[in-house]
Amino acid sequence: MVRRRQIYEGKAKILYEGPEPGTLIQYFKDDATAFNAQKRGTISGKGVFNNRISEHIFTALKGIGVPTHFIRRLNMREQLIRQVEIVPIEVVVRNVAAGSLSKRLGIEEGTQLPRTIIEYYYKDDALGDPLIADEHIACFGWASQEEMNDIADMAIRVNDFMSGMFAAIGIRLIDFKLEFGRVWENDYPRIILADEISPDGCRLWDMKSNEKLDKDRFRLDLGGEAEAYQEIARRLGLLEEEDASSVLDLDTHRKKRGR
Ligand code: TMP
Ligand code: ASP
Repeated sequence: MVRRRQIYEGKAKILYEGPEPGTLIQYFKDDATAFNAQKRGTISGKGVFNNRISEHIFTALKGIGVPTHFIRRLNMREQLIRQVEIVPIEVVVRNVAAGSLSKRLGIEEGTQLPRTIIEYYYKDDALGDPLIADEHIACFGWASQEEMNDIADMAIRVNDFMSGMFAAIGIRLIDFKLEFGRVWENDYPRIILADEISPDGCRLWDMKSNEKLDKDRFRLDLGGEAEAYQEIARRLGLLEEEDASSVLDLDTHRKKRGR
């Protein structure tokens, strides 16, 4: 096996050097963390589902003119991406109150917000990713005003597109997190969508039953997390019935053999 240089290991993904300069390989792990990695576990087959789901969404976003780091999927757990300078900001878009918004402001989970909210968090595990304001971003130079305008515009376009895409398969897009990166083209910086879009960083509720079909199943110990990720992939038409069961079977067999 060819050994590749590992560039970075995060909580859910590993980045390896890519085949050409300016590219990386993004590997999706089954590892799951919550509450700033105080809770750790694995979700069988999650990496495979997230790789497919993120490919599907990034490809569709490219189709509506949102620039992304995604180049192509390589195999079950890996995709080729453009190397970017990650902007150290987590961009959270909210349509319905849930999670930290409900907790912080005492708004009942499930309350439809009168307008979409964009929030920014400073990406720093040691600080627990604190909520920040535009003023902090400008003051500390994490992104320019022009870049922040592009980021907010793209976040709204992604939200509009994804809200429709999920509504079409009976799912309510409650909220989600995006990350952006900077690429240099002819000495000019340009912002593109990076990281991933998957049930790890979205809240997705079944429209009829309100059942949670995302990482909250893991965060809140609800059980059935692998099945929830699989259900999202299935509804998006990404898995044939046999494919889905073989992903889960494969992981079950691997575990039985102690690997
Ligand atoms: P929150 O309600 O906990 O602030 O989360 C808002 C959305 O952002 C939710 O869809 C989950 C996602 N998220 C991440 O992807 N990574 C994180 O570290 C956190 C805190 C939230
Ligand atoms: N991914 C985050 C962590 O473990 C938290 C979360 O998604 O809830 O730190």
